[in-house]
Amino acid sequence: MKTPIRISLAALGVLLGFALGTPRSEAVKLTGYRLEQAPINLTDTASLQRGARTFVNYCMGCHTLQYQRWSQLGHRLHLNHQALRELMFLQTKPTEMMTNAMPALKAIRWFGAAPPDLSVIVDQKGSSWVYTYLQSFYIDPHRPSGVNNAVFYRVAMPDPFWKTQGMQKIVYRRVRPDGYLVNQFVKFTPITRGTLSPRAFRRQVGNLTNFLAMVSHPDELKRIHLGIWVIAFCVVFTILAYALKREFWKDVHRKHPHEQ
Ligand code: HEC
Repeated sequence: MKTPIRISLAALGVLLGFALGTPRSEAVKLTGYRLEQAPINLTDTASLQRGARTFVNYCMGCHTLQYQRWSQLGHRLHLNHQALRELMFLQTKPTEMMTNAMPALKAIRWFGAAPPDLSVIVDQKGSSWVYTYLQSFYIDPHRPSGVNNAVFYRVAMPDPFWKTQGMQKIVYRRVRPDGYLVNQFVKFTPITRGTLSPRAFRRQVGNLTNFLAMVSHPDELKRIHLGIWVIAFCVVFTILAYALKREFWKDVHRKHPHEQ
């Protein structure tokens, strides 16, 4: 057999192998899944403290908050030196940023994507997106990590809460609105029981989202406090200005020829 023919046959074989080896066609997206409003309250310090603890325990192995300094966080969450040390765990200095030691290239090899920095994630995607995303992992044997996500379809991140939430399965309908295969969400059904009750789990994710919202909007609280003073000043100034105006116009009215 001539060499070019042999090469073409080999190439054909490889292509055929790929074609047969790929799993049955996967839908390109999921529709009909709604975002849920996150319980954001930046004045709730206890919630922010719990959220920070969850972040350090469940997320910081992979994700960073590169614009957030530990000491600043301690100050904002009213943590004393001891409490901040406990939160920091193995980190060395409170003046350091909240980063980790995961090399991006290795992460890409392990997960298929690098875990992005989450400093401004709530600003970028919205708090409802983050809140719903963290509760929407489900089992999917087609994915390399074994899970998929109803908000971030085909996500590379493994489910950090598979123990606390418990694992769930998705029920969907297969539809072809414009010729493309689409999975239309119907519901989730739990497969394993979580270590937390569904309510406690939602609270945990709510606190975590609240914490990420605070990190994304570092000056929000200052703005609220300042805003109250600005409005108070405007009210007082209006009263003073009105009193002054009456005082000035008193003379003008008195001197008006028709009034004399
Ligand atoms: C084992 C590593 C790992 C852990 C632990 C982890 N993540 Fe991720 N995360 C990833 C990877 C990898 C991606 C990128 C996914 C992609 O692009 O498909 C990601 C993506 C995300 C995104 C989407 C970012 C974007 O820009 O779209 C958010 C939000 C997120 N993670 C939040 C969290 C939170 C909150 C926790 C803790 C509860 C957490 N992650 C724990 C690896 C991880």
